[in-house]
Amino acid sequence: MKPKDRNIPLDLTHSYIPRPEGSLFEPPYVPRMDLAQINFNPQAIFEAPCHMNFAERMWLFATVYALGVERYLEIGTARGGSALIVDLAFAILERGGVTCRGVLIDKSFSNVSSETRQKLCDRFDFIEKPVSIAAMREANYLVADPFDFVLIDGNHRYNHAIYDTLTVLPFVRPGGFLLLHDAAFFEVRDAVRQLLRLTNLTDCGYIARHVNVHAKEEPRDPEGFWAEEPTRWGGMYLLRAPDVGPR
Ligand SMILES: C[S@@+](CC[C@H](N)C(=O)[O-])C[C@H]1O[C@@H](n2cnc3c(N)ncnc32)[C@H](O)[C@@H]1O
Repeated sequence: MKPKDRNIPLDLTHSYIPRPEGSLFEPPYVPRMDLAQINFNPQAIFEAPCHMNFAERMWLFATVYALGVERYLEIGTARGGSALIVDLAFAILERGGVTCRGVLIDKSFSNVSSETRQKLCDRFDFIEKPVSIAAMREANYLVADPFDFVLIDGNHRYNHAIYDTLTVLPFVRPGGFLLLHDAAFFEVRDAVRQLLRLTNLTDCGYIARHVNVHAKEEPRDPEGFWAEEPTRWGGMYLLRAPDVGPR
């Protein structure tokens, strides 16, 4: 459904009730599509203005397509590259009769070109706000469903990675996935460890292990916990929401 087709007033006063049905633990579905009909240019995966390496781009595209993600949430869009990669998978899924929708949350979309925005606006809504419960309620309202898959790629500081993950968690479908990018960065890595202690998320581990070591070190407290850590960017860590029960 395109945004212009939806003529629903935005009512943020409703309470969100996670749907117990529709778990991603249910048997897989089979999209019906004629692969010969698909007009797909794989080069677009590599040309997207994305802060991800080759392995990460491939994984994101293949996983969104393979899982049949219908409701996608992205925290941190930057120039729109990761969303464009998801859009490529969505375009193919839609040929199989799936209605795919995404919500992009970023504190600023000023780096998204008008061309990229134009490509994304059919399947994605943009929420230009920092991550918060209010932003999540708006996101949830826009797609009218819990999210199947969330990319968490906003602020990579330890507290932010924990805050962002815990804030989106009530809006994730049972069995849904949370993908943390730059999980090789020491603050995100340790945030993941802490999240695994704090929650009953399933630990799916590092699912992309290609990282970049940067000559420029991230500033840090020389006396602090991470004083000796080299700065590595990239790496993707996957967590999975439990099937039932309060979190
Ligand atoms: C690493 S970039 C995202 C890259 C993008 N996912 C890609 O692969 O193309 C991080 C983005 O997170 C956004 N961001 C940082 N802190 C945020 C916050 N608290 N809430 C929402 N967005 C935030 C920044 O504005 C920036 O655009």
